[in-house]
This record gives sequence, structure tokens and C-alpha cells, in this order.
Amino acid sequence: MKYLMLNHKMNLTEEEAIKYAKDFNEVKPNKCELVVFPSYLYINLFKGKNYSLGSQNVAIKDVGALTGEVAASQLNNMGCAYSIVGHSERREIIGEDDIEFINKINELISNNMTPVFCIGETLEAREKGNTYEVLEEEIVSVFGSLDKDSIKNIIIAYEPIWAIGTGLTPTNDDIDDAIVYIKGLVKDNYDTNIKVLYGGSVNDKNISTIDTIPSLDGYLVGGASLDIEKVNNMIKEIS
Ligand code: PGA
Repeated sequence: MKYLMLNHKMNLTEEEAIKYAKDFNEVKPNKCELVVFPSYLYINLFKGKNYSLGSQNVAIKDVGALTGEVAASQLNNMGCAYSIVGHSERREIIGEDDIEFINKINELISNNMTPVFCIGETLEAREKGNTYEVLEEEIVSVFGSLDKDSIKNIIIAYEPIWAIGTGLTPTNDDIDDAIVYIKGLVKDNYDTNIKVLYGGSVNDKNISTIDTIPSLDGYLVGGASLDIEKVNNMIKEIS
């Protein structure tokens, strides 16, 4: 079963979120495993039975005194089963690094949550032919410090940075090659069969084409996830 993961980022007013959550509770996931990552503010609105709940972020450690952060134990307590780690927006805009990703992944695993670890190359790296070097570096620098048992519980989201929010997507062959490369690298180095999602400008118009990629285990969707009609259309196209 493929995943359809919906990353709301910093979007929706309270009124919009209430309406979205009400409509979302009626969505039938059909053949996919549906996961929604709302803003922290609205997590409590999502109590439906047809989907799982995820957090867009998590604190690096579980202590009471860490102003402004939310601990994995609190997220788990609120029903979150997944959390995004290493999204390019947090790498580039917030400046998060590998040490933080390692700490966050360890926190999630010890609280029975699944990390969705995002990796992906810049346009410059792709044009220089360095895509696989970037992917390898992003995986090894984090996975090298994790237990093998932890790695088994991670899902990777392959998200080329140049495809996020731009309307651009790689060709199916390029996505397939990157996913096969990632799966091979994790298998060879850590003896684990890992699931890999694709993210970057997936929407209800292009998902049927992307869905034919043999190595793909699902999607991480930003912009198109904010429209319930688009969510329903995407679900229909997933095989
Ligand atoms: P997008 O975002 O679908 O709007 O490109 C994807 C993501 O950032 O996870």
C-alpha cells in the first residue's frame, strides 16, 4: 500500500483548518495509507479514523525546559505516529544540521513514532551531475550515527529541492533511478529494506504519471494537500 502524506506547512487559518478537518474526516483513503501533518495549532482537530496523524517537527530532546519546542512524547500522546525530519525548508531556512536530525530521529524512535526523513539535491547539484553524491552524503551523515534497529523504522522522502513548490518535477526515470539508488545504498550499508516516497510539486494532475514508477512507495505532498478536492482526486489515481 502506498503512502499519501500531506504536509500543510504553515498554512490555514483557524476557520480554514476547522473546515478542512471536518471535510478530511470524510475522505476515504481507498488503496493508500493516508497521513496528515497539520500545523501544531490544529493537531487536535484531526481525530478521524481513516488516516494517521503526523507532526511537521519535533524537539531534539525530551525535557520540560525547552521553550517553544514540542517533545516526541507529547506528540505521541496527542496521537501522532509520524514526524517529518530534515525537510529542506528546515535545512535551508532554519539552518538545522545532521546532529539535530540524529537527535530528533532518536527521540521519535524511542517514542514509537516513525521519522519521515527528507533528502534531495539542489538544481545546481543536479546540473553538475552530483545528485547521487548529495543523496549519499545526506543519508550516511545521519544513518551512520543511528542504531540498525532505528534505521528499520525510518521512511525516506526523496524531495529534489528544485521541485518543491515550483511546479517542476523530475522525469519518472530520474525519480526511479534516485529511489533505486537510495534503496540500494541503505540495503548495502545498513542491511535494511527502506521505504522511499517522492515529494516535490505532486498534484492531482501529475500523480497518475508519477504513480507508474515501480520503485515508489508513496508521496509527500505540500501545496496540493491544502485542497480536499485535490486530495480526493490524488487518492483516486494511486494504485
Ligand atoms: P510541494 O511541497 O508539494 O508544495 O512541492 C512538498 C514538500 O515540501 O514536502
